[in-house]
Amino acid sequence: MQIRVVTGQPWEAAADLLVVPIVGEPVFAGELGELDRRTGGEFSALAAFGELRPKRYGTALAAPGELPAKRVLAVSGGAAEEFDREIARKLAATALRRLVNREVRSMAVWLAPVAAGLGGDEALAAELVARGVVEGGFEPKTIYRADTDAAPPALDELVLIAAGDAGAVARGADRGRIIGEGANMARRLSNRSANDVSPQVLADEARAIAEAHGLWIDVIDEKRAAELGMGLFLAVGQGSDNPPRMIVMRSGEAGEKDALGRHLALVGKGVCFDSGGISIKPADRMEEMKMDKIGACTVISAIATAARLAPGLPLLAVAPAVENMPGGHACRPGDIVKALNGKWVDIINTDAEGRLILGDALTYAEQLGATHIVDVATLTGAVARAVGNIVTGGFATPDPWWDDLAAAAARAGERYWRLPLIADHMSEMDSWYGDIQNTGSPDGSLVKSGLFLEQFRTVPWAHLDIGGTGYFRKVNPYAPRGATGVTHATLVELALAGAAQG
Ligand code: BES
Ligand code: MN
Ligand code: ZN
Repeated sequence: MQIRVVTGQPWEAAADLLVVPIVGEPVFAGELGELDRRTGGEFSALAAFGELRPKRYGTALAAPGELPAKRVLAVSGGAAEEFDREIARKLAATALRRLVNREVRSMAVWLAPVAAGLGGDEALAAELVARGVVEGGFEPKTIYRADTDAAPPALDELVLIAAGDAGAVARGADRGRIIGEGANMARRLSNRSANDVSPQVLADEARAIAEAHGLWIDVIDEKRAAELGMGLFLAVGQGSDNPPRMIVMRSGEAGEKDALGRHLALVGKGVCFDSGGISIKPADRMEEMKMDKIGACTVISAIATAARLAPGLPLLAVAPAVENMPGGHACRPGDIVKALNGKWVDIINTDAEGRLILGDALTYAEQLGATHIVDVATLTGAVARAVGNIVTGGFATPDPWWDDLAAAAARAGERYWRLPLIADHMSEMDSWYGDIQNTGSPDGSLVKSGLFLEQFRTVPWAHLDIGGTGYFRKVNPYAPRGATGVTHATLVELALAGAAQG
């Protein structure tokens, strides 16, 4: 897809489709008034008919009249007071998804209404629109089946109609396209099934991505993991015929500090299938647990995206990849296993496997010199019950590290809610035989998942639980069912904060 920036009026750029974003109640004055006149009053007629109400992601197709397009698509961004970066991106994704099965090769988007809702920043509007269009084009139905008619149109050209500095708008759009492509790479990998993507296949995919982006990669097999002492990682992986792989990727040099003095590590849970192990899950919706590798897919993509935007930026990614299966070799409830950091862990529930593999991955990231860590994991179902599937729950310590993450999230247009690490509950995970149990009572289990991970880090650390936000169970106007790509952009922004300026 080419991106072309046109400086001018929204009725000047020719394309198959013209997208007219409407933020708040439509007012038919100025440019929107002129667009209405040129369509022969289509917009005002739609508004009088009851369309074009400020309902977020509502769409209406109209005839073009004299406009140089085959059709015009109005997309609502909802109430003006609520408009933000996330809505800007999703609005653009909605536009493309509204066009499934339509003959559209080129799409023009009038940026001004989006920019107006973002404090007048047209380059930012271009970034979010380009990112939204790229992300909106992702359709998991086409991963295995070519013969599906479900895909949004593959555009030859995206035309961005800008008022101001075309160079800045083009640079913004390029950044947005790269971030969107990274999110889609994570989503594509995440959606693939467990019979297709074993830990070894995930490692092979990571190697291909590393080679394509000039990243260093190390894949630790079960023999080396045993030598290193990754007891938690191995305990989870031992139940499957598909052996575990610890995937380590790096941009920049070993231990190298970024412009903020950090050696940042992104750690992602890579459970290619989570059956629960011996503490087996119920059959209902177990098929969703092929999605339990989203965290790993996200950090593998995020380091590649960061390297595209800032080549050589010091950054580490660690993705423990396993299959959590029952069987004759599987770890049992009551097994006591030594972690890489020396702690003895009493495995009470083999379905609380994410925190086990992440525990060793956090320790290993620190052994490789990480000074700051963020992990991403489909760690609990409880997080979805607590905060739902739009906002990601997170834990962090110390406070300034959460503030840095929140700043990156604001730039990325993603939403997080900080959850408390209530230390009092640690005693409920005291183990009779070892140092710590991997679960306690169900009360406060979400807090305990964070507290458990906290035991495996000594540097500033944040944990993002995407158990609710990582994948959708049903379609949305702006996204299909399946992996959402959530946290990818936040991780990229957090890393890029450490890129040298200029
Ligand atoms: N991968 C699951 C969490 C999950 C479940 C994410 C459903 C998304 C949708 C995780 O490994 C798990 O099984 N967690 C348990 C923890 C419990 C055993 C303490 C859970 O959430 O029930
Ligand atoms: Mn589990
Ligand atoms: Zn899991």
